Amino acid sequence: MNRVAKRALEIPPFIVMDVLEKAYELERKGHHIIHLEIGEPDFSTPECICEAACESIAKGETHYTHSLGIIELREAICEHYEKKYGVRVDPEQVLVTSGTSPALLMIFSALLDSGDEIIISDPHYPCYPNFANFLGAKPVFVNVYEEEGFQLRPKEIMEKIGPRTKAILINSPSNPTGNLLSSTRIKKIAALGPTVISDEIYHGLVYGEKEHTILEFTDNAFVLNGFSKLYAMTGWRLGYLISPPDFIRPIQKMQQNFFISAGSVSQWAGLAALKKARHDVEQMKTIYDERRTYMIKRVRKMGFGLPVEPAGAFYMLVNAKHLSESSYELAFEILEKAKVGVTPGIDFGQNAEGYLRLSYANSLDNIKEGLKRLEKYLNRR
Ligand SMILES: Cc1ncc(COP(=O)(O)O)c(C=O)c1O
Repeated sequence: MNRVAKRALEIPPFIVMDVLEKAYELERKGHHIIHLEIGEPDFSTPECICEAACESIAKGETHYTHSLGIIELREAICEHYEKKYGVRVDPEQVLVTSGTSPALLMIFSALLDSGDEIIISDPHYPCYPNFANFLGAKPVFVNVYEEEGFQLRPKEIMEKIGPRTKAILINSPSNPTGNLLSSTRIKKIAALGPTVISDEIYHGLVYGEKEHTILEFTDNAFVLNGFSKLYAMTGWRLGYLISPPDFIRPIQKMQQNFFISAGSVSQWAGLAALKKARHDVEQMKTIYDERRTYMIKRVRKMGFGLPVEPAGAFYMLVNAKHLSESSYELAFEILEKAKVGVTPGIDFGQNAEGYLRLSYANSLDNIKEGLKRLEKYLNRR
């Protein structure tokens, strides 16, 4: 008999963490590494947010909160969705969580019984299939392709829908591709029938066309969102979900059992983020866009495949099949020889094998230096 439960033994690691840990090991030995594998903003949390957190501590807001989250924050989230997308959400449909990750786990837990299916794009954020498998559900993959900028094809999703399909997951802008789903496609996906789970954590980080929430097209949907990326608040662990009314009570019970409530101080900080940080966000976005434009030009010049410009988040997934069949080996080779951290495509699904994810959540100087090192190494490889 195993001492460790099967589900704990079988949950896969994040490969990007393997790369990061190897990078730290090299740094400890005195090497200088440029990190283009990172999945979090390089900016510090804006001051107005930190100030609000300090004020909340001074006021003694250091207790458990309502399990759905403080009402001020839930109302501000509803206001945000109404102002930005013109959709009406009731604060009773909002549940504030300790990051987007627990929200994702609770939505999956509320929707998926053992043997149920959830349709997910390949490539995808690694947690999606890992959480589904953890619950005994089955991820069903729909490939997306670089020639189309990794857009999901509603027709292919339809072909994968079966009697056990409970949900379709979309993530726009996407990690790892930076793809922004067009509103026409979201509308078609919303009309397919199964509940849509829309991970909107990279909303706000779009550099041209406007992003759309799933709630513009259907009520049969869950929204996942959070403060980690847009407001540079990864360490605050703050996210939220918007749920159809009939799911709120079951999810609230899970929250009470598993987490009690999200952190009180983080929630007050989140309120300030929504109310006061617009200018800071605009500044960060302008800087990301400058880096994005530079990186696109440069990687294309270096011979990596990137037929369509990524339009959102802070990632691009570039084709490196001309360099290696194994993105895992290639990423470690680049780290050890060129001293640049990149994420192997295989972390994001079989269909991303042969690709590398580059993040521009690093300064332009570091990006320039990282790509220079990479080019130099590849030229003499
Ligand atoms: C697509 C996507 N969803 C969810 C998360 C989780 O974010 P957090 O738990 O920090 O809110 C991430 C983090 O990288 C992500 O890329």
